[in-house]
Amino acid sequence: MEKEALIPYVGLITDIRQDTPDVKTFRVVSPNGGKLFEHKPGQCAMLSMPGISEAMISITSSPTNKEFMEFSVKKCGCLSSALHALEPGQMITVRGPYGRNFPVDDEFFGKDFLFVAGGIGLAPLRSVINYIRDKRENYGTIDIVYGSRSMQDLVDYKEIIDEWMKTPGFNVHLTIDNPQPEWDGHVGFVPNYVKELTPDLKKTVVMCGPPIMIKFTLGGLMDLGFSKEQIYTTMELRMKCGIGKCGRCNIGNKYVCKDGPVFRFDQLDELPNEY
Ligand SMILES: Cc1cc2nc3c(=O)[nH]c(=O)nc-3n(C[C@H](O)[C@H](O)[C@H](O)COP(=O)(O)OP(=O)(O)OC[C@H]3O[C@@H](n4cnc5c(N)ncnc54)[C@H](O)[C@@H]3O)c2cc1C
Ligand code: FES
Repeated sequence: MEKEALIPYVGLITDIRQDTPDVKTFRVVSPNGGKLFEHKPGQCAMLSMPGISEAMISITSSPTNKEFMEFSVKKCGCLSSALHALEPGQMITVRGPYGRNFPVDDEFFGKDFLFVAGGIGLAPLRSVINYIRDKRENYGTIDIVYGSRSMQDLVDYKEIIDEWMKTPGFNVHLTIDNPQPEWDGHVGFVPNYVKELTPDLKKTVVMCGPPIMIKFTLGGLMDLGFSKEQIYTTMELRMKCGIGKCGRCNIGNKYVCKDGPVFRFDQLDELPNEY
């Protein structure tokens, strides 16, 4: 089974969306049609291009989508730059799915949620959010606080406006770091906005974003009275194998690729201090 988990599938890119100036979303299918493999919300996959490199990327589409998988990739280095130069119709390889998923069918069942995301950190949360939208009757109210540097840097803006904001029981709160003439929404950093909104203490919190956003949002939530047992995040540590074999991603005795990337904050307290 572990050997199979390392064998890459060939993926055909059928669509590429320019989401922000440096983020593109790639729609990938099997060359014979349909999805490459099944996954759960929060899992990731290793994308690669022969002769270039490989990188671990969250599967941003929901498992409820039965036709294709999507990956939102920020252009920042070797593989992501090469991916950004591709056109629909070209092939990549994909292996996975890897990692522990968000517990959508057990611990999350029936809960009210606060999702908190910054920048490309929305990518892994989009999978959970759309899973909840598609199984609406199984979950309570959903608050989403999402921020980016500017309006143009908000990933999936169209889907947020056209679909999330129109979903009953969904409250979406967008913010950008600095004022812009064409923006009449909230301006300010995500952690401050979360505190201003004084979320209900019953909510389960799921967050992903830059480490500084995570640090200050967590502090703010603790001040409001949330406990670490009700806050989940997903970690991005450099990975190679994805199956707990190469030792690239270990923190103490845990492998982020296998024991994570999804963790509850009380579980992170058990890890060595430097993380
Ligand atoms: C579980 C998981 C999920 C992820 N999900 C996503 C996602 O959905 N979308 C997304 O865009 N990214 C995601 N990432 C991050 C992505 O895997 C990295 O950004 C990856 O490095 C990009 O590959 P690259 O070849 O383009 O960049 P690289 O060439 O690897 O460079 C990326 C950056 O890291 C720096 N760098 C290069 N080598 C090192 C090194 N040895 N040590 C420290 N820094 C180095 C570079 O200067 C550059 O700024 C995820 C990572 C993990 C672990
Ligand atoms: S990436 Fe190899 S052990 Fe985690």
